[in-house]
Amino acid sequence: MKRLIVANWKANPDAPGRAELLARKIDYLVSKKVDVVIAPPFPFLERVGRVLKHAKLGAQSMFWEDIGPWTGEVSWHQLRPHLKVQYVIIGHSERRSLGETDEMIAKKVKAAHYAGLKAILCVGEPKKIRSRGFNAAVGYVENQLKRDLAYARPFANYPFIIAYEPIWAIGSGKADDPKESAEMARRIKKWCAARSFKRTQVLYGGSVKAANARAFFAEKDIDGALVGGASLVLKEFAAIIRAAVR
Ligand code: PGA
Repeated sequence: MKRLIVANWKANPDAPGRAELLARKIDYLVSKKVDVVIAPPFPFLERVGRVLKHAKLGAQSMFWEDIGPWTGEVSWHQLRPHLKVQYVIIGHSERRSLGETDEMIAKKVKAAHYAGLKAILCVGEPKKIRSRGFNAAVGYVENQLKRDLAYARPFANYPFIIAYEPIWAIGSGKADDPKESAEMARRIKKWCAARSFKRTQVLYGGSVKAANARAFFAEKDIDGALVGGASLVLKEFAAIIRAAVR
């Protein structure tokens, strides 16, 4: 399987022209040996989508209902047929911290699968849990999987993408130990396989950069990366893509 690298631009950059320029430059680096997804803010999806020839387009969230009276929400229906979005990040810890619950996340995962979008479900434990030991972190993550995939069973044949992002590693500059993340990836795959979710792909996220990407990709259970800050810096992101090529 090709590695999957997802650029999570969060609320960046500040203007559509800059988004287009960065997307063009990233797209130019994408070969057939790696899958790359660019997830810009909603207002830039159309413009970025227009310039991508090799990379795929992703959204950073979506609403679970179709069209209707949902002020401020963006429905899957607007994303997929109209904007050609193929992937959607769901349950990022930055959204959870703003009030997104496991129930909302479970509905989003279900709706994404119905819509034919590839959901990238983010899970990961806070520092205080990890400080109780690795098994506490595994328990926390398994509990998230149980709640967030609560409605996903009927779609078990759909490719499942889980991004393991320990919260303390996100945006901190200090990534997890690749060996521990690989062990978590194995535990996530085991959990999914036991519930007949086939073809689970596990990404690592949290301060991935040029300097540490190879160490993560050396682990056979880490199938790619979800990259925040470094995906906005062309030189950094180019090195991550190069490291991901098999
Ligand atoms: P980071 O963000 O790479 O800036 O740590 C990762 C993420 O939030 O998905």
